[in-house]
Amino acid sequence: MQRLALGLAAILLWQFALNASAATTLEVANLRCEYQIDPNGMDVLQPRLSWTLASLQRGQKQSAFQVLVARSPEMLRRNEGDLWDTGKVVSDESIQIIYKGIPLNSRSRAWWKVRVWDKDGNVSDWSESSRWSMGLLHQSDWHSDWIADPALLAASPTAQTRTNPLPATMLRKTFQSEAALRRATAYVTALGLYEVRINGQRVGDQLLAPEWTSYSNRVQYQTYDVTGLVRGGTNVITALIGEGWYAGRLMAVGRCAYGNTPMFLMQLEFELDDGSRKEILTDSTWKVNSNGPMRAAGIYDGETFDARNERPGWDSQNFDDASWTAATAFPLDARQLVWQRNEPIRFEQDLSCQKLSQPRPGTFVFDLGQNMVGWCRLRAQGTPGVVVTIRHAEALNDDGTVYTANLRGALQTDYYTPARTGEFTFEPHFTYHGFRFVEVTGLAAPPTAEAVLGRVFHSAAPAVGGFECSDPALNRLMRNVMWTERANLMSSPNDCPQRDERFGWMGDIQAFAQTAMFNRDLAAFCTKFAQDIRDDQALDGRFPDFAPHPGDPNAKFSGVPAWGDAGVLVPWCAYLNYADRRLLAEQFDSAQRWVDYIHTLNPNLIWVKGRNNDYNDWLNGDWIKAATWPTHGSSVPNELFATAFFAHSTELVAKMADQLGRTEQSLRYRKLFAEIKDAFNERFVTSDGTMTGDTQAGYALALAFELMPEKLRAAATAHLVAAIHQYHDHLSTGIQTTHRAILELSRNGYQDLAWQLITNRSFPSWLYMVDNGATTIWERWDGYVKGRGFQDPGMNSLNHWAFGAVGEWMWRNIVGLNPDEVQPGWKHFTIAPHPGGGVTWCRGEFNSIHGPMESSWQLSSGDLTLDVLIPPNTTATIIIPVKPGSKLTESGKTISRTTEIQVSQLEPDRAILEVASGRYRFKTSPSASNQ
Ligand code: BGC
Repeated sequence: MQRLALGLAAILLWQFALNASAATTLEVANLRCEYQIDPNGMDVLQPRLSWTLASLQRGQKQSAFQVLVARSPEMLRRNEGDLWDTGKVVSDESIQIIYKGIPLNSRSRAWWKVRVWDKDGNVSDWSESSRWSMGLLHQSDWHSDWIADPALLAASPTAQTRTNPLPATMLRKTFQSEAALRRATAYVTALGLYEVRINGQRVGDQLLAPEWTSYSNRVQYQTYDVTGLVRGGTNVITALIGEGWYAGRLMAVGRCAYGNTPMFLMQLEFELDDGSRKEILTDSTWKVNSNGPMRAAGIYDGETFDARNERPGWDSQNFDDASWTAATAFPLDARQLVWQRNEPIRFEQDLSCQKLSQPRPGTFVFDLGQNMVGWCRLRAQGTPGVVVTIRHAEALNDDGTVYTANLRGALQTDYYTPARTGEFTFEPHFTYHGFRFVEVTGLAAPPTAEAVLGRVFHSAAPAVGGFECSDPALNRLMRNVMWTERANLMSSPNDCPQRDERFGWMGDIQAFAQTAMFNRDLAAFCTKFAQDIRDDQALDGRFPDFAPHPGDPNAKFSGVPAWGDAGVLVPWCAYLNYADRRLLAEQFDSAQRWVDYIHTLNPNLIWVKGRNNDYNDWLNGDWIKAATWPTHGSSVPNELFATAFFAHSTELVAKMADQLGRTEQSLRYRKLFAEIKDAFNERFVTSDGTMTGDTQAGYALALAFELMPEKLRAAATAHLVAAIHQYHDHLSTGIQTTHRAILELSRNGYQDLAWQLITNRSFPSWLYMVDNGATTIWERWDGYVKGRGFQDPGMNSLNHWAFGAVGEWMWRNIVGLNPDEVQPGWKHFTIAPHPGGGVTWCRGEFNSIHGPMESSWQLSSGDLTLDVLIPPNTTATIIIPVKPGSKLTESGKTISRTTEIQVSQLEPDRAILEVASGRYRFKTSPSASNQ
């Protein structure tokens, strides 16, 4: 009886939930403007808005929306959109909504919210409100000068003659503020790196600001609301500036790539209660001093901090700066001051020491258990005047000392000189290190393991991917991919975080882009990076080999197949994931010039001329030195490799043109693509699908870029398979073709071989790295081998993401999530997991621009249960492997045609379903007749 009563109550509750949901079926959340939450100081005149929708109801979608944008939060609360009221717009678009309200001015602020109508015309509640502010839109809004320490201005501010590192410069300015302050906003940047304080309080939490751009063209500034930091009466602004990427040491260019001396620029603007305004500007009234404690700080080399030089209280109002020098001021020049479009570099996590050892007396080694990027905080006992040396390394030598040979010319060493006896705490400012191990010497007393804390930081692009499966080694592999991604998102997408390189090598991100976007939301990051690429495109159309390019891209390090092509492929990948047409529009002319550059030099359509540094399929099997490994035969012919990328970029330019409605270019580049494809086939492919060189890489490229004629596809795949068998079922591919080879195996029906490659433990393979202790992805398959030791230190990064591009295969095939080019931004997508490799379950969660989605599966006695979540306002094609004779159910019921599930195809070994939003549980099991 009691049970029945409970049952009735449950039914009533359920009905109540159904009735209630009739009014508000959709919830609006995650409001973002230009991909960011509440961005400050934007310079995008028509920012784009997006939101996500949540609903427990299946098949739910948005049929209309209304956006209100107001000048004040009060007005928005009253539902008055004085800047923009879209009214009810019949549309299912919930991303990339372009602001078309009253034009936005410098400093203007906006508050916004949205409500939506669901598929049945029921309106949701208004969302929470969100906001944005505009920065200084015109150069004439800037009244400040660049300022620097005259003592450091050895020659001219742009001289490139210095060979020694510079000390950091301290800057000070006191000012009076009225009590009746309504708002204070600081606009800040540096040529170099800065940290700024008001009345001793740190402004913002951004590290290594203003980050790396093509400084000669463009410098980012940051906008901070500092109302809470300014008080009535005397105030003081203090800043610290260092060399950073602007004037520090960089690979291939040495010091002072962009200028000789760091400079600072700040404009502090007050709005008083009576509506009047006041400004504090950087000018020659500021005081400077470069004889402070930070004697040197370089991106590669680390920081030298002498606490004996500290100026206690220098960041407080009362400090006497009479002996400091007046700053030298320079007017603003032609370089543009722009908003930082991507998420800042921020602390993301702290790692504590897992193991402390003492390989030699007085030498202490802290193991953080994970190869990471950032720096460490040291809290220990020092002796006045005795230098404490903090070295950072990715690995240990056999004797337990730190292995630093692979850092090449980068010291990644911090030096701290205590001023007093006793405990000190040190954390650097203007550097970063790639490391797992920290060696400390020079301490007054043996430290405890708590003395070192690893502080992980990087560009804070939001993490969006969660992967777990029944195989711990594959989980470790995916974690390694994710850690490597974090390590190399440092303002630009870098190759490595530890040696004297750390450049935005274009070929590396080009290979890794889709993996990177599965794991983190790189929409804003890529928008900034695409600008970096355009800024450093050579005059003849060559894209740089790395962006930013600190040298002259017209002279060298530009125009390389697969590296330059990132200027086309990376924005296209971003388009696929974020449906960002504006990014395509911004990139289009540059992308076109790149293809035209290649075409002009190579009218016969085989890319022979103008390959410049021609890295080819970098680190392919011919680089491997192992007793049983063939010495040659892996390297794909350079012309074949280059022409494949030429073709692919050309096709993508045509596709970009389609999206932008540029019919003439679409036709032109599509025709060119067809011609390159013909030339490619004529030159490199025989009638039985064999390719010149017969390399795995060649087949992978031709298949991935759709260069094989349809009729030869199967044959070419068979040749790829044969080429893999030749290497005893291992890949002999380089950084451009490894992920493409395994993806093409799966796409063309060789799942078992793909699974074998991913689960291989013998050399070379991903799990070989894992088995040899990798906690990040290595540059080389055998960066370290137990018993043998390390690879050639000249090129042995233990934190390189290129081979980690296999993450894309894991997402597409184990989890089974695949974006759809026809409906980009995950508006429609495919879920097609391919269980294999002995893996019995997998859980995959991905927070797309349209909201969270999930694909999780479990095998039990060979039958599959697949749980999926499709966000409202999106649809998915679900491809479920079924065994002949088995039956397929959803939530326990036989699948029949409903509004939410349409059976599109039933094949002997798979079912293809079209599914509306919602949560579903599909299950295959032996059919009744088989039982
Ligand atoms: C980098 C690579 C990069 C390459 C160019 C190396 O030193 O670390 O990842 O793509 O140079 O071939």
